[in-house]
Amino acid sequence: MKTPKRLQPLVDDGMVDEVLYQLMSGKEAQVFVVRCGDSVRCAKVYKEAKNRSFKQAVQYQEGRKVRNSRRARAMGKKTRYGQKEQEDAWLNAEVDALYRLAEAGVRVPKPFGFVDGVLLMEMIADEDGKAAPRLDDVTLTPEQAREYHSKVIADVVRMLSAGLIHGDLSEFNVLVDPSGPVIIDLPQAVNAAGNNSAERMLERDVDNMRRYFGRFAPELLNTDYGKEIWALYESGELYPDSRLTGCFEHDTESADVDELMAVIEAAKEEERERQERLRDAEEGDD
Ligand SMILES: Nc1ncnc2c1ncn2[C@@H]1O[C@H](COP(=O)(O)OP(=O)(O)O)[C@@H](O)[C@H]1O
Ligand SMILES: [Mg+2]
Repeated sequence: MKTPKRLQPLVDDGMVDEVLYQLMSGKEAQVFVVRCGDSVRCAKVYKEAKNRSFKQAVQYQEGRKVRNSRRARAMGKKTRYGQKEQEDAWLNAEVDALYRLAEAGVRVPKPFGFVDGVLLMEMIADEDGKAAPRLDDVTLTPEQAREYHSKVIADVVRMLSAGLIHGDLSEFNVLVDPSGPVIIDLPQAVNAAGNNSAERMLERDVDNMRRYFGRFAPELLNTDYGKEIWALYESGELYPDSRLTGCFEHDTESADVDELMAVIEAAKEEERERQERLRDAEEGDD
């Protein structure tokens, strides 16, 4: 196809030899299939900041490390420089996350660099070499659903052990290739340490996976991996190969119920005593 304008610099630099076709455009980016020498790769072109939606929300930015303090100060300001710095940090976040996660053994597309606002990465492909379908596009047997669910949960654990939470994990951001699920789309990845929404985001990611795979294997709907993973993480006991049960003892909640019952009993007892005193007083009056 004709080279799109945003990809022209990569063609000029010789990083991309040919743009083959465009994949379905997502919420935040356009993804092209390109040829680089003998390999076929994906080139992700981010939409302009003003055309992007929720992922740039403050809750995702919290706890992100900005290496240089001048940049950090600039990002806090609404100046044009500040906005540019924020945009660059945003764009770099996905390629940073991909390198970190590939290193941590999480199944993600292998990154090949980030040039002029374009992310070059491995194309996740099906048996025929075409771009792999998303989870949302496939129908699973109960066995496949259980297997893929456990693989995704294992990747979420490895990811959190490496300090990151996806933050937008859903059936639209997981591809399926012959080896199983592959997690994609990470520009909003959250640093777990130092982000007040981290627990909530982790639980939401995990719950999305439970809901999706639970359509094919309903027993998954009874699991509670999110709380279990977070509890281990918080107590410093989460490891990349942590074994999980899928069950979570709601200690505090059951303790609360016991406590509440005790309070109710005490109140009833008090009321009985009060009634008795009243009766005694009335009898005394007689
Ligand atoms: N590495 C890849 N290999 C194959 N297909 C991909 C790859 N990355 C993205 N895609 C396709 O492009 C779509 C949009 O990419 P994504 O990273 O999810 O961006 P968006 O923010 O626009 O959702 C995905 O749903 C998927 O179908
Ligand atoms: Mg997406």
